Amino acid sequence: MKIVVIGAGYVGLVSSVCFADFGHDVICVDINKEKIKQLRNGIIPIYEPGLDKILKKNIEAGRLSFSLDLERALKDTFVVFIAVNTPERRGSGEADLAYVMEAAKNIANFAENNTLVITKSTVPLGTNRRVHSVIKKENPNLIFDIASNPEFLREGSAIEDFQKPDRVIVGINNPSSKKVIQEIYKPLALKDYPIFFTSLESAETIKYSSNAFLATKISFINEIAELCERAGADIQDVAKGMGFDDRIGSKFLQAGPGYGGSCFPKDTSALIETARSYQVELNIIKSVIKVNEHVKLRMVEKVKNVLGRNINGSIISVLGVTFKPNTDDMREAPSLVIIPELVKLGAKIRVTDPQGIKEGSALLPKVKWYGDPYKSAVNSNMILILTEWNEFRDLDLMKLSNVMANPTMVDLRNIYKKDQVIASGFRSYESVGS
Ligand SMILES: NC(=O)c1ccc[n+]([C@@H]2O[C@H](COP(=O)([O-])OP(=O)(O)OC[C@H]3O[C@@H](n4cnc5c(N)ncnc54)[C@H](O)[C@@H]3O)[C@@H](O)[C@H]2O)c1
Repeated sequence: MKIVVIGAGYVGLVSSVCFADFGHDVICVDINKEKIKQLRNGIIPIYEPGLDKILKKNIEAGRLSFSLDLERALKDTFVVFIAVNTPERRGSGEADLAYVMEAAKNIANFAENNTLVITKSTVPLGTNRRVHSVIKKENPNLIFDIASNPEFLREGSAIEDFQKPDRVIVGINNPSSKKVIQEIYKPLALKDYPIFFTSLESAETIKYSSNAFLATKISFINEIAELCERAGADIQDVAKGMGFDDRIGSKFLQAGPGYGGSCFPKDTSALIETARSYQVELNIIKSVIKVNEHVKLRMVEKVKNVLGRNINGSIISVLGVTFKPNTDDMREAPSLVIIPELVKLGAKIRVTDPQGIKEGSALLPKVKWYGDPYKSAVNSNMILILTEWNEFRDLDLMKLSNVMANPTMVDLRNIYKKDQVIASGFRSYESVGS
């Protein structure tokens, strides 16, 4: 089947590559000339493990190409996915749908009759019907249908998530579109991955509710972590003990510096705003956001407590700044709150991150970047672990403490054990929730 995907970001690019790998002929279209140029040369503009190999394989097989020209791409093609960004509209909490609506207008102008327009971007309740109206208004003669197919992939494991999904959610307007979707996802259906058809509105709500629920788990455990610290309990044992219960599950119960990334912060806010427009107050989700903001500042307090007055002028070696490991994405990373607060207090920040420098150098202008944690540690006063990259899980702690001026560690991802750190020459070790 011929498929056009609009948007070559984390979702559009991964979807394009994986649809091509299913055997479809895919053209991925973006408005960013540099991105398309790079992709045509086999250069991937984002860091996503495994993407390079499968991209190369499908380009070589002639199933995948990249284009700036939507009009040409849509010739003789009857399936088009919208996978453009839906950021938060500045300060409003609402999703900015300008990119989606622009894509819809372009589709209206160039699509063939009988095209199915499928929204993969995360869009609030009612957006798919708006997409329908925009296309209809722009080109009243076009015969087309719409479907909602929100994406659940996680950066860092995007290929695996796309190829082995927990579920594929599809909102349809018209039963005849079901067959097209079934054809697109046939390789997954053959392997018994669930493909769940529902209404447009329910599909839109499933996506936002899923993200809001996961964010709730994180804020919940972070709040309990604060209690554990005060009361002498250990959050890792608490989370483990809770997680044995199948109804709760152990995933997303790791205490840390709060959630970030391109989805949870904007999607929780957008869901609140959508609900508000229906006169519904989402009090749980409001608290989730409040706790997440609090936890980041609480982490700054932790560092202050260790360094005391000496924080002014102290050198802190930060390990990890991306919002999670295995991505270069810095959107809403906790580091973007924590590091500037430490800079304000006079700390000198050095950063090591396997992939963060490309995005991070503009966002964190007052830090020095290091390629090697051991070099970054020389004469420093603290190792501050912000992101649990595998590269930081098994450091030679003795080697680190030997080169530091005052070996202390604040481990916001709980990847080390206190006894081990202290036995390796550190004067103090602080983690989250114990
Ligand atoms: N990143 C994730 O992990 C993730 C996971 C699930 C869902 N989502 C959702 O998927 C959507 C895309 O997210 P992303 O992270 O891939 O965004 P992104 O910012 O990485 O990429 C979006 C791309 O769309 C392009 N674009 C914008 N308008 C365009 C237009 N009119 N025509 C062609 N290209 C256009 C941009 O140039 C950009 O390359 C969002 O709604 C997001 O919430 C993201």
